Amino acid sequence: MVLYELLLFCVVNSVPSAYAYLDKQPHYVKTCMIKQPKEIFINCSTTSVQGLFNEIPKGVPEIGLQVLDPLEVPVLNILQGGGGPVTVNASLSNVKVLGFGNTKILYNSVDPITYDFYTKLSLPRLRIDGYYELLGRILVIPLRGKGSCWFDAKNLDINVKSDVIMEKHDGFHFFNVTKVHVKFSIGGLKLHMGNLFDGIKALEDSTNAYLNANWRPVAESLNPILSKTIEDIMLDILQKVFDNIPANFFLGDLDLD
Ligand SMILES: *[C@@H]1O[C@H](CO)[C@@H](O)[C@H](O)[C@H]1NC(C)=O
Ligand SMILES: *[C@@H]1O[C@H](CO)[C@@H](O)[C@H](O)[C@H]1NC(C)=O
Ligand SMILES: *[C@@H]1O[C@H](CO)[C@@H](O)[C@H](O)[C@H]1NC(C)=O
Repeated sequence: MVLYELLLFCVVNSVPSAYAYLDKQPHYVKTCMIKQPKEIFINCSTTSVQGLFNEIPKGVPEIGLQVLDPLEVPVLNILQGGGGPVTVNASLSNVKVLGFGNTKILYNSVDPITYDFYTKLSLPRLRIDGYYELLGRILVIPLRGKGSCWFDAKNLDINVKSDVIMEKHDGFHFFNVTKVHVKFSIGGLKLHMGNLFDGIKALEDSTNAYLNANWRPVAESLNPILSKTIEDIMLDILQKVFDNIPANFFLGDLDLD
């Protein structure tokens, strides 16, 4: 049995994910009817996506989905050229993201023609821990350093539009999520970057204090970079979910060919 699970795990991870799909409806997927009146459908699909997000942060090994809370990301590279308020060349490694387990879905609709998703969600808290290397400028401050860091954001409101192409194989329809567009705002941010300026302690302390005191413009200036980062992470998660869970389990009245 153990061997079998091990093999299955290898198969799921090595075969193109579109073929490792679930052919039975999982208990955490609630079916909605897209042809119902819009407000009834939106109510149903909001509840359905909430059900999904109550479950998937624990990880769904059958579809190759890792645990999402905490989410572990080996490396994030961030590069933003000059011009704006931010010029950074940074990498974050051994990243651990806490908080996706408390995702609250406020709204979800599906376009009845294109099948694109529109989702509003909120997270009470998102905390990122990792090891950073940074060279750049945020607001007017030149920054340089490498060491451990954390970012702790609260009350995130996130709007996501997911571009979808409906596809059919093996007798099921699938949502092929090709791109996600994220807009977000945060209600507060605390952060700490250790060993800034190669450990010149007074400069490190005053810079961290300045960044925390000015968290709002700091967060605004980082918004484009963070949106892109969230988009990349969400695309990966949504593709694992929707490449492997047929659209027919979510939408019970699809009558496409
Ligand atoms: C759906 O409708 C029910 C009954 O009106 C309501 O209690 C519930 O909060 C609604 N859910 C959402 C997600 O809007
Ligand atoms: C960013 O930093 C990395 C690692 O230090 C370096 O290899 C790369 O050339 C830098 N890129 C730019 C555009 O400065
Ligand atoms: C999704 O669509 C894109 C663009 O047409 C295609 O390149 C990709 O292979 C599709 N993915 C799956 C899992 O079918």
